[in-house]
Amino acid sequence: MKSDYIWMDGELVPYKDATLHVLTPALHYGLGVFEGIRCYDTSRGPGVFRLQEHLERFVNSISVLGVEHFPYTVSELSDAVHMTIRANRFSECYIRPLMYMADGPLGLNLDVSRPAVSIATWEWGTYLGKAALETGVHMMVSSFTRPQPNSVMTKAKITGNYVNSALAKTLAVRSGFDEAIMLDPEGFVAECSGENLFLVRAGALYSPPKALMLEGITRDSVITLAGDLGYQVVEEPVTRDQLYIADEIFVCGTAAEVVAVREIDFRKIGSGKMGPITSQIQEAFFKTVRGEGERSNDWLEIGSKTEYSAGI
Ligand SMILES: Cc1ncc(COP(=O)(O)O)c(C=O)c1O
Repeated sequence: MKSDYIWMDGELVPYKDATLHVLTPALHYGLGVFEGIRCYDTSRGPGVFRLQEHLERFVNSISVLGVEHFPYTVSELSDAVHMTIRANRFSECYIRPLMYMADGPLGLNLDVSRPAVSIATWEWGTYLGKAALETGVHMMVSSFTRPQPNSVMTKAKITGNYVNSALAKTLAVRSGFDEAIMLDPEGFVAECSGENLFLVRAGALYSPPKALMLEGITRDSVITLAGDLGYQVVEEPVTRDQLYIADEIFVCGTAAEVVAVREIDFRKIGSGKMGPITSQIQEAFFKTVRGEGERSNDWLEIGSKTEYSAGI
């Protein structure tokens, strides 16, 4: 997670100085919002994937949390992201914007502390492991449930919400699985601890509806790419047993990218290997993020190689 600089409220701060006081309110009550974005190395220079959409979701998450007087626009944040990548001379990296409630007296009233922002970047390989991209993962359906949407709200990447994801992920890994699939309060499939999910049956793709999950930007990209490849995508409630009898399942997210699921709860999915449709979608996704797909120009903000390798 190392880099030379981290952007903090308008300034590039050396990595070792990018620290906070232990009484920062965000640390005590989960009062923060974050984004996860990837920048890919393309033949034309570093390309940030769907930056505008990620930053719009960031600002929307802050609004869902109810923070008033957030001082940055999407355009200012976008400039700051590019500045941070340039300062660190990365051609490929993960980007982590974070809003955290800072400086106020400790307490639960959001109105007494100040929203501060940092943007960190680092070189981050595959989240679920390189082998996962080729052979797929084994997942469990978690005994932890996604929150009811009138408690903490799943449309927002609020840091405190990720306790729920951490409980599920840790239990899954300790139990020998790679990742956790989480059900909504009514028992339908919602999403994973950090990914959205698709299943394939009889040549069509299915994904749970958006109401009770994070509206994944990779999920949205997959829906478009699947449409481009001629597949029908149906958004409808999905049950646990529909997972077990699917022909193929894959999960997707900025960190995980597109990964096949080969087994769930010790039940082989389809052939138990990455299926042909998953493989096609994965290939289309990587072509797109590497600047070689038909959607690349719409979805990548590519900076010039010379400018980005010059640093600050
Ligand atoms: C809970 C959850 N669901 C889904 C996703 C996938 O979203 P995206 O594709 O925008 O990264 C993420 C990752 O951000 C997540 O944390």
